[in-house]
Amino acid sequence: MASGAAGMTVRIARSTVLVTALLVGACRAAPQTIHAGEGALRVEHGAVSSANEISSRAGVEVLRDGGNAVDAAVAVGLALAVTHPTAGNIGGGGFMVIRFPDGRATAIDFREKAPLASHPEMFLDEKGEFSADIRHRSHISVGVPGTVAGFALAHERYGSLEWARLVEPAVELARDGFKVMPELARSMSGVLDNLERYPASLAAFSKNGTPYDGGEVWRQPDLARTLERIMQQGQDGFYRGETARLLVEEMERGGGLITLEDLERYEAVERETVRGMYRGYEIISMPPPSSGGTALVEMLNVLEGFDLAALGHNTAPYLHHLAETMRLAFRDRARHLADADFVDVPIADLTSEQYAAELRSMIDPQHAGVSSPADAEHALVDESEETTHYSVVDASGLAVSVTYTLEQGYGSKITVPGAGFLLNNQMGDFNAGPGITDTTGLIGTEPNLARPEQRMLSSMSPSIVTRDGQLVAVIGSPGGRTIINTVLQVFLNLVDFGMSPVDAITAPRMHHQWLPNRIDLEEGFEDEALVAALNAMGHSVRVRGSQGTAHSIFIEPGTGWLIAVPDPRGGDAAAAGY
Ligand code: DON
Repeated sequence: MASGAAGMTVRIARSTVLVTALLVGACRAAPQTIHAGEGALRVEHGAVSSANEISSRAGVEVLRDGGNAVDAAVAVGLALAVTHPTAGNIGGGGFMVIRFPDGRATAIDFREKAPLASHPEMFLDEKGEFSADIRHRSHISVGVPGTVAGFALAHERYGSLEWARLVEPAVELARDGFKVMPELARSMSGVLDNLERYPASLAAFSKNGTPYDGGEVWRQPDLARTLERIMQQGQDGFYRGETARLLVEEMERGGGLITLEDLERYEAVERETVRGMYRGYEIISMPPPSSGGTALVEMLNVLEGFDLAALGHNTAPYLHHLAETMRLAFRDRARHLADADFVDVPIADLTSEQYAAELRSMIDPQHAGVSSPADAEHALVDESEETTHYSVVDASGLAVSVTYTLEQGYGSKITVPGAGFLLNNQMGDFNAGPGITDTTGLIGTEPNLARPEQRMLSSMSPSIVTRDGQLVAVIGSPGGRTIINTVLQVFLNLVDFGMSPVDAITAPRMHHQWLPNRIDLEEGFEDEALVAALNAMGHSVRVRGSQGTAHSIFIEPGTGWLIAVPDPRGGDAAAAGY
């Protein structure tokens, strides 16, 4: 009786919301929009910056219907699961950092977990040798997904509209279809060969092997039905019942480990953010199982002791100081960072001023340091760059920063037959196996080994910047380990160099991750004198493709208006606002 009455209340409220939305929608203009490469969108009330226009607009419509930034973030995330399949997902996981207008902040951890049957040696083949195929390209590479639980938790604690209103845009996009954007067409065509092993993936992401052209309408009926179950049943629509059954059947077909029990037990967790001060600005970011927040604060503490502005933006001395700081922080990342629910992570020590002074004294201002071969057991491998970050701010100043992922582009490439969504291959973020260390970059250190229900270490660093209690920016990026350094440089561009939002996002970026001992320069840095100067200091240098896509929002000083910047590196990226 009680639940029936409650259900009725929900139905009435929902139809009221829909009718209001229709009436308002009929007479209101579309949100303002700007595409990647077109600069910044300046709006007064609310904004979303994400990997595509459809998703950013879905979020802004939620804001205009009276939703807050958490509501909008959930709607954007679910819309990206339909429109940005390389990284948008319901079969993966990620992190959400929220800052409230009163200055409080919190983090939602919806990182995937290792299935109950996991163990540290699970990536070894029958000869006892590490197998990249098992860790990255098999049903065993799939972690228990966290995204739906994370969005449900964020909504339950901090949302204001009904859940169904937030899922509805994604259901409609999957059911009715949408016109394939240019970058999406390229991406789906490019991945086709890798989908061939999985008929359900071929069926979902191509016309049975023929790629979609830009402008064609793409419908995903299986995904639409899964999203409808999520719309009607919330978290249970994914972790129990039909969706869970279909997922587990695919695991059984392919020799994967995830069971119904794994799905039922999965819980997203609310965690305390990592916060640090730098020249009067505060950065609020993600704690373990992300390494991002901790490494960012550690690096900023070190860098605060140098006059970076005097070194000059992107000069050889500046890049040298960044590289040396990154070298030290990434060494600590490999040694100490992992899921703090399972291992002791010394966050307070790593982020202390005293430790920063110690690290700073190890940096020679003229010469590259060493990434000691004796530390090779902590070496790190190259990672793919397929994840997605989006930023949301509403009219009250509530700010939400989300980075989530399937790990590699299209994750494991496995689509759950009948359910239409891709599964992650996030187990690849665990270390290879106990003591397995070699010069190619495999690592076998203890903290980040696979254990039942442990979350694998991540670099995703959704972050929020404030000054004197006022919101300054919402930032983040994809890019594996480069994420941390991308966020660092966007922050420094703003704080030390006073750049405009567009310049702060556009300026070329660099990356160093301790091992391999090398500076990666983004295209745009191709200046022979600069490379020669770095070489003369003892740095090995590589010029690589683009680094990250930092879809961000900045607050205009004085007016408080929002400046939303889709990173020009993101093909279909767009910001929307009103
Ligand atoms: O959690 C992590 O750090 C990685 N799995 C993220 C992967 C990634 O960023 C790839 N792409 N951009």
